[in-house]
Amino acid sequence: MEKTFVMLKPSAVTRGIIGNILTRVENRGLKIVAVKMIQLTAETAGKLYAVHHGKPFYKNLIEHVTSAPVVALVVEGEDAVKIMRKLVGNTNPKEAEPGTVRGDLAMTTTKNVIHASDSVENAQTEINIFFKPQEIMTYKRADENWIY
Ligand SMILES: Nc1ncnc2c1ncn2[C@@H]1O[C@H](COP(=O)(O)OP(=O)(O)OP(=O)(O)O)[C@@H](O)[C@H]1O
Ligand SMILES: [Mg+2]
Repeated sequence: MEKTFVMLKPSAVTRGIIGNILTRVENRGLKIVAVKMIQLTAETAGKLYAVHHGKPFYKNLIEHVTSAPVVALVVEGEDAVKIMRKLVGNTNPKEAEPGTVRGDLAMTTTKNVIHASDSVENAQTEINIFFKPQEIMTYKRADENWIY
């Protein structure tokens, strides 16, 4: 089983579509093993998006993700990193396929409503930024034998 880090951005929280997005994650068969709502500081946002430091969109990105609370999640499942990225869709919602979170629920790249880790290695780094080991749960979904 693989774990990935997911974050519902302020554009999702303020629009009241947390449930819509979490339902998609759960319905797919992925398991939510940690969740918290937090107000990101510029420092934490800078850690999450360190690779983008200096890029033209960086300032807008940090401004957006610190503009209202976010919901941080750890999501678990077989190939969870890859499956979450596909479920999220293209970075630019205008290029994202219908059926994906961004393709169904977003219009602009800055306010693309969700973040998901892009590799297993980055997932672990990002999980560690947001969660202590004891905040990540272990449990069995009632339908697990029907998912795998
Ligand atoms: N050209 C751009 N213009 C405006 N914002 C951008 C642009 N490129 C990226 N971003 C913002 O920075 C975030 C991180 O960019 P990245 O290239 O890592 O895309 P991503 O991996 O699809 O998104 P995320 O890391 O949020 O899951 C994007 O989700 C988006 O909000
Ligand atoms: Mg990314």
